[in-house]
Amino acid sequence: MAKPSSPQSHSNYQGIPGTKLLGNARLTFEDKEIDLPVFEGTEGDRAVDISQLRAMTGLVTFDNGFGNTGSCISSITYINGEKGILRYRGYDIEDLARNCKFVEVAYLLLEGKLPTEKELGEFSSYLNEHALIHEDMTHFFTGYPRNAHPMAILAATIASLSTFYPELEDEHENFKITTARMLSKARTIAAFSYKKSRGEPFVYPRYDLSYCANFLNMMFASSIRNYEPTPLLVKALNLVMVLHADHEQNCSTSTVRMVGSGRVNLYAAISSGMAALWGPLHGGASQHVLEMLERIRQDDCNYKKYIEMAKDKKDPFRMMGFGHRIYKNYDPRARILKETCDEVLDELKHTDPLVDIAKRLEEIALRDDYFVEKKLYPNVDFYSGLLYRAMGIPLNMMVVMFAIARIPGQVAQWHEEALDPNWKIWRPRQIYSGESRREFLPMEQRV
Ligand code: ACO
Repeated sequence: MAKPSSPQSHSNYQGIPGTKLLGNARLTFEDKEIDLPVFEGTEGDRAVDISQLRAMTGLVTFDNGFGNTGSCISSITYINGEKGILRYRGYDIEDLARNCKFVEVAYLLLEGKLPTEKELGEFSSYLNEHALIHEDMTHFFTGYPRNAHPMAILAATIASLSTFYPELEDEHENFKITTARMLSKARTIAAFSYKKSRGEPFVYPRYDLSYCANFLNMMFASSIRNYEPTPLLVKALNLVMVLHADHEQNCSTSTVRMVGSGRVNLYAAISSGMAALWGPLHGGASQHVLEMLERIRQDDCNYKKYIEMAKDKKDPFRMMGFGHRIYKNYDPRARILKETCDEVLDELKHTDPLVDIAKRLEEIALRDDYFVEKKLYPNVDFYSGLLYRAMGIPLNMMVVMFAIARIPGQVAQWHEEALDPNWKIWRPRQIYSGESRREFLPMEQRV
């Protein structure tokens, strides 16, 4: 190989706002040697800036599943997967989950600070003002088949919001309105989609109830049943929603940013994020965890069989609720949910055989070499479904609950991207592996 000439580097490198330039990483390939800037975020994450790589070398990077790719600079959520740390805007998830209501955390994610009492009051009133959906939208629900999955109804109806509530200019006051519409109407739509799946009349939002109490009321109240959401259930719903409120650049949030990068309206971006969240490997996992636990129960709790199936590469079975792209330690959200699940069941004086099965399965898995070596721990979805079940939330609503809880994070991420002066439309490259140019064949010559 020819000796490389002297290294090229970015001329006039400006650095990336909010980060510190550390130095250069040198890349040598064929007769080229280039220096790529290395920078560091506030918590010590280090990255090589390859934005000029193709221009300087003709090379692109290949990173299957983006496991090594930082897609944006963000100041919203911090995760250290090795240490099991999760923070929103610098606050530990444990502190937020134990002390804050969902609406307070939504404000934190959206505005970057915890609200004062006055700010929280104003934000809550705003949410209340925007809780109703246009009455004409209720006709949408009648068009779906009776057994339609509420997640399909939710994602489609969220996208349709733009037909009733056209885009607003993206200045601060209007962003507040769009956000309030998104958060509050999504909750109403979610509850209506549940009522639709049961063939029951809708229950409208009440001004006197808080965000989570309203959600429970719209789901469980009816004209023939008096229902008052208990403080215990309201507290548990707040907690589980806080735990799901954001999780940096996961599959669905990256989808929101990707779709948003084409400058589409917020409703369309959030709707596409919901579609991504639905998958069983992502937000849909909680439903599949419960189905798996039920299968184990019906199989006389043959834990060994399921552990072996999960380890067998030829078997498509995976231990649902285990493993995570980022966490190589216990997911802090799973720990809190496990405790809360016990507290709720205790207070309700309920028992659930599936909770015992989950705990036993976790115990066995965490002692198994396969799970230990691959650092597979329970993720947020291992216990969230069990908690929802304890609260009386049905199986097909679990991913919907997740989707509603994730809205503040997704809106904050969408807005951060919209305000980014260095914004670019997302457009990855590929490495083509198909046929080279072929001569076109008219129909009669094809075999
Ligand atoms: N059961 C059995 N083996 C697993 C599991 C699991 N749940 N998760 C990962 N592994 C194995 C993989 O087979 C792989 O083995 P290999 O190195 O021998 O090929 C290794 O662990 C690494 O796993 P990957 O699939 O490469 O990890 P990745 O980061 O791509 O996937 C994911 C993460 C999708 C969450 C995966 O762990 C999984 O499928 N878990 C089950 C579904 C689930 O619980 N999803 C919810 C995640 S949390 C959320 O999105 C809200």
